[in-house]
Amino acid sequence: MNRRRKIYEGKAKILYEGPEAGTLIQHFKDDATANNAEKKDQFDGKGVLNNRISEYLFTRLSEIGVPTHFIRSMNMREQLIKEVEIIPLEVVVRNIAAGTICKRLGVEEGKPLPRSIIEFYYKNDELGDPLIAEEHITAFGWANPQEIDDIMSLAIRINDYLCGLFTGIGIQVVDFKLEFGRHFQGDIMRIILADEISPDSCRLWDIDTNESLDKDKFRKDEGGLIEAYQEVARRLGILSDNERVITKGPVLVK
Ligand code: TMP
Repeated sequence: MNRRRKIYEGKAKILYEGPEAGTLIQHFKDDATANNAEKKDQFDGKGVLNNRISEYLFTRLSEIGVPTHFIRSMNMREQLIKEVEIIPLEVVVRNIAAGTICKRLGVEEGKPLPRSIIEFYYKNDELGDPLIAEEHITAFGWANPQEIDDIMSLAIRINDYLCGLFTGIGIQVVDFKLEFGRHFQGDIMRIILADEISPDSCRLWDIDTNESLDKDKFRKDEGGLIEAYQEVARRLGILSDNERVITKGPVLVK
């Protein structure tokens, strides 16, 4: 029986109460959704891969001075994180045109953008996460101008780091989504990176073939999602060539 108190269950993750005050356990599920959960499926081992990839990227980012919620790994699907007050924004950074920007602005998919673009979406499933302007963020009090500045400068640093890291392993960072939270320590509040960075929340294309190594495999029904996520993990050096992700516990033989 699971005695832990569930704090929140999202489409691909669950948050449980952590062992100490101010901490939570972030659990990565195998569920995948697309089109605001109209399309749903399960992929054995996706949660394990995303946990491992996100843990790796958050650790590297904190080494270059990006404050994150990650504390330590707990097990194959779970990590201990700092509790934050989530800012209700999905912060999308785009380097190459793909996804909704193509439909919205008529840009050709695969075209490098004139410069990296940061977009804000209001995190609200009922409304389908609409694109918003900074004006909406400040007018509705979702974040103040200083917080928006902090978020944008962190997003730019994260993009620079990820582009360098992934280029080195033959992958283009097309776009990705970040979430941030307010972390309180006594009277001090600072904005830190929260949620995850994984092939669920990024578009990652092989440099040579432009093959998607991300959730577009599922969105576009291409198949091979787990193989693509494994390839990302293998190239990052966090999954050895012959390692397979153990997805389920022992199977009962009847
Ligand atoms: P989009 O092209 O659908 O707007 O998505 C841009 C990138 O952000 C893509 O890598 C997927 C990611 N993303 C999420 O992971 N969750 C979200 O809710 C949104 C809006 C985008």
